[in-house]
Amino acid sequence: MIIAQITDTHILPKKQAWLDKPETDVTNRLKLVVEQLNKLVPRPDVLLFTGDTVQAGCKESYQHLKELLEPLTMPVYVIPGNHDNREEMRAAFSDKTYIPQDGFIQYIIDDYPVRLIGLDTNVPKEAYGILCKQRLLWLEKNLKTNPSKPTLLFMHHFPMKVGQKCFDNMICRLEDDLEKLIQSFPNVMGIVAGHYHKMCASLFGGRICFVAPSTAPTHYFASDEDNYVTAIDLVHPSFTIHRWMGGFQMVSECIQAIEYNKRLPMARRESDNE
Ligand SMILES: [Fe+2]
Ligand SMILES: [Fe+2]
Repeated sequence: MIIAQITDTHILPKKQAWLDKPETDVTNRLKLVVEQLNKLVPRPDVLLFTGDTVQAGCKESYQHLKELLEPLTMPVYVIPGNHDNREEMRAAFSDKTYIPQDGFIQYIIDDYPVRLIGLDTNVPKEAYGILCKQRLLWLEKNLKTNPSKPTLLFMHHFPMKVGQKCFDNMICRLEDDLEKLIQSFPNVMGIVAGHYHKMCASLFGGRICFVAPSTAPTHYFASDEDNYVTAIDLVHPSFTIHRWMGGFQMVSECIQAIEYNKRLPMARRESDNE
């Protein structure tokens, strides 16, 4: 099973620029990623979309986002980030029957060899996230319904500090011991998240917590004590492929969506010794 992931697309209503800087060009960055996801062979079985789908949570931005996602040839599973508006997201994706009709946007997808559990860490109008007692109880209850199938959790905010002061205030706050919960379910392969706009990974509860790079531009941090964001880096838009290798092994690879005219073609080589 091949699980693709995109995150932090930060789409705006048409003709508006992210952070009022046209160079950020989040629309074309997402278009390029969608185009390249559709060209992958073999085709990913699913696409997890781990939040900050839009910048300001308004209806017009979700309409624009839906248009941009339209060409995708694989099922998309979306959860909210801090920039999303839960109710506007629910309305925009009302065709997705996996999204609950009310309450938190968390759900289970059991149609594949890997069980996918989406978690809603959104706290309205706050940059940090929360897994409150209610959301964690829901997770525990649902993990108990199938404690042997390989399972992957996906959420926007990651639960561990990353050592960048300005981001460590915006991680997922936990109202109960998520590490202990994960440890009691050996079938949980790990967590995939977004929010950081860069790739990083850590062990959490003894499993991998993989933070995927964004489709939108990334943050550049000051190297002084205040460690604030001093710039937006216009690196290539990225997406991630998580390959399930059987059992409880998953290998994750980040791919930069580079325009094809910037890739240098190579002749096919018969061996690496040439
Ligand atoms: Fe973001
Ligand atoms: Fe975020």
